[in-house]
Amino acid sequence: VGCKPGGTTVENPSSEILIGHYASLTGPEATFGKSTDNGVKLAVDEINAAGGFKGRKIKLITYDDKSDAREVNQAVTRLVTSDKVVAVIGEVASSLSLVAGPICQEYGVPMISPSSTNTKVTAVGDMVSRVCFIDPFQAYVCAKFARENERVKASKAAILFAQDQTYSVQLREEFEKWFTQMGGVITSVQTHIKGDQDFSAQLTAIRATNPDVIFIPGYYTDVGNIAVQARNLNITVPLLGGDGWDSDKLPEIAGKAIDGCYYSNHYSPEDPSPRVQEFLTKYKKEFGATPDGLAALGYDAARILFEAMERSPDLKGENLAKAIAETKDFDGVTGKITIDAQRNAVKPAVILEMKDGQRKYVTTIEPIR
Ligand code: PHE
Repeated sequence: VGCKPGGTTVENPSSEILIGHYASLTGPEATFGKSTDNGVKLAVDEINAAGGFKGRKIKLITYDDKSDAREVNQAVTRLVTSDKVVAVIGEVASSLSLVAGPICQEYGVPMISPSSTNTKVTAVGDMVSRVCFIDPFQAYVCAKFARENERVKASKAAILFAQDQTYSVQLREEFEKWFTQMGGVITSVQTHIKGDQDFSAQLTAIRATNPDVIFIPGYYTDVGNIAVQARNLNITVPLLGGDGWDSDKLPEIAGKAIDGCYYSNHYSPEDPSPRVQEFLTKYKKEFGATPDGLAALGYDAARILFEAMERSPDLKGENLAKAIAETKDFDGVTGKITIDAQRNAVKPAVILEMKDGQRKYVTTIEPIR
């Protein structure tokens, strides 16, 4: 294996093909990385069991970035400069994908984020694509559900968001925009810092404005703590959030406090389609758990990469990135995936309800227009 200036790998037809994954396997977002890695592994095992890519085995190298920007920098630099992977999968958290994107762009190695939804992630450059929808759409989904669904029919919403989290900031902005545009009123906007323990001041302020719903666009650890404290303050209205809620840890942290609350997500395990059920069976057999949205997106990201490898004239970064960006009507577990001109995926979202510690499918919301 040789290396061209710019770091692009030159293929050696007899060798393994390396792909990289950097993920939060430990830290406050540990379930994100673990689930995604399981999904990616399942896809790698499948392609290898079927003879590999043009007879060559795929080898996955995964590094733990500990949900930390400096660790992301190191992990991704190592993947592209020393391991010389043909492509990189990661991250979940938008703030971390934003650290990795410029490195992949500089070295000309394609990066696919399975689940980062902030618009900035793919704006970094043509090396970076994603297989999930983006937050302006996700916020639209939440606003539409809150305004129109019989279960909520909210005219007044309050917001509590993590002001130091890229993901949370954009979801808040876009939710406010859509909810207002749909005729709703925002009664209070409160902020917190990720990892905060005490939300009583913000929740008390929100309670005084008497909202019908509270939008909390954070990650599961903070959301769980917020839910418990909200119920302790006798706030009984439904809480609503985005994909950042999607973790088995959420009901573990929040218990009953999160029952009757809703979030938007990338897929539902209750989807009866054969594509989803087949994935569920395989995943359960391999990992002994029901796959969450992260696992489904990790699986889709890896399979989209392999499919792009088939269509690409070779595995040079530039060509492979182009093939990924040209993905059209890919039959994913998380829906039909077409990557648009901004290298974002356009696809529906689902709303799930937390009920007795389980996620229950409520409805599907289609892409705008
Ligand atoms: N969409 C979130 C982000 O961009 C990450 C996430 C995806 C979290 C899916 C949970 C499930 O930061």
